[in-house]
Amino acid sequence: MINKKHSKGFTSKFGFLMATVGSAVGLGNLWSFPYKVGEGGGAAFVFIYIIMVCLVGVIAMIGEFVIGKRSQVNVIDTYGGISKWFKWLGYLGVLVPFMILCYYQVIGGWSIKYMVDYIGGIGVASGVQNVGGMFDTFTTSVTMPVVYLLVFALIVGIIVLFGVNKGIEKASKILMPALFVCLIVVVIKGLTLPNAVAGLEFLFKPDFTKVTGSTVLSALGQVFFSMSLGMGINVAYGSYMKDSMNIGKSAVMVGVLDTVMALLAGMAIFPAVFSFGLKPTAGPGLLFVVLAEVFASMGPVAGRIFGTIFFMLVILAATTSSIALLEVPVQFVVERFHINRKLASLCIAGIVFGIGSFIAMSFGVPSLQVESVDLLTLFDSITNKLILPITAASTCLLVGYKVKPKNLYDDLQADTKNKLIIYKIWGFLIRYITPVGILCVLGIGINEVITGAAGFETLAGKLMIILSAVFMVIICVIANVVANYMESKKMQIK
Ligand code: TRP
Repeated sequence: MINKKHSKGFTSKFGFLMATVGSAVGLGNLWSFPYKVGEGGGAAFVFIYIIMVCLVGVIAMIGEFVIGKRSQVNVIDTYGGISKWFKWLGYLGVLVPFMILCYYQVIGGWSIKYMVDYIGGIGVASGVQNVGGMFDTFTTSVTMPVVYLLVFALIVGIIVLFGVNKGIEKASKILMPALFVCLIVVVIKGLTLPNAVAGLEFLFKPDFTKVTGSTVLSALGQVFFSMSLGMGINVAYGSYMKDSMNIGKSAVMVGVLDTVMALLAGMAIFPAVFSFGLKPTAGPGLLFVVLAEVFASMGPVAGRIFGTIFFMLVILAATTSSIALLEVPVQFVVERFHINRKLASLCIAGIVFGIGSFIAMSFGVPSLQVESVDLLTLFDSITNKLILPITAASTCLLVGYKVKPKNLYDDLQADTKNKLIIYKIWGFLIRYITPVGILCVLGIGINEVITGAAGFETLAGKLMIILSAVFMVIICVIANVVANYMESKKMQIK
């Protein structure tokens, strides 16, 4: 049953590309990329990010697509089929999206709050002087963020529950271009503001003296998050690919489009940051705080319309990504435990909302914070900086040494001399460069957590973040051992 091959698949190359881009482009591009650039010191972070997209992102993405395309089965069995001792990677690929979703939906809720404010004209009309203050008042108000989280969670839950995802997928073909156009409008408006050039310099003129190991790890984690790497989602998309589809080209396209969207978001935000004398290091609130200024500067009517449209698009982009994130655990539970799909969706969405509520409240409730760091930042750090590097590096090693690049040339359609050369380079990178690079960055990053450079000063804080990650890996390894044991028992009975 589990090993059954997929019968459905993508019918067109465009459909495949849009589905992958739709899952890749989301809050990672619009919300987290800009604020991480701000915290990471600007252009140097952007520069490192782009290098990482080329050397790590695209290379690992090709690896994930190709093992999915070869196996044509679900993620856990794809890894299990390569080696029965690597199913834990598949389990992590289910657990991580679940964890990400818990805080992702909180940001979705914030976006709804902002859209509602613009519809009501509150965001622009009242001449908000201190938009940062407004953001803080909202996020620390304890109940309101939970109410908006509930609204967002209901939207996503209902879509998944009633299985209207197909319509959403179609909608994302219009949504992505619309988002692109809307971003361009905001970028142009931002560039006409006084002192906008300072923002562009911040974004594109690197100052490498500010780079530390944790900046590099933050950039790497952001690449994984933004390209949805290391969580099996691309393995699943690969398994729906048709034979004729070109893996290398698709991965490059996704990498380019995803990066362009992130850079546009940066270009929409940083000129305004400098023009209005705001701080680039504002953290998770950056998108909301800065754009409120930009829309206010457009005047009450235009600002209200653009603010509404922009946040509506943010919500839609977050919704498509959330649906994909929720599908991963739902599909796993349905296949493995033979539970009714609706029940599974309801239960998982409920648990996600429960955990999400604590995350949403943690900004205003100090006892929910760890060393004054909110739970959102904590969840984000554990998944992006610790777990994703482990899963992505392991996937590279698995593809590089167990499956072996030379066995994959057929699937990669390396049928001409030039293509063969390109894929030989890919094979070299995925064996020797990419995984080593990831592990080095991970090592440096962990070292900085231990030495306290990453914001946690007490031993308890450091231990908490590292042990949470270790704990997650151990759970998945145990699941791997149990699954192997049960399978061997089944074989004996037969
Ligand atoms: N890449 C998405 C973004 O940038 C977030 C994300 C991470 C995601 N993993 C995913 C989306 C898996 C769908 C499926 O916002």
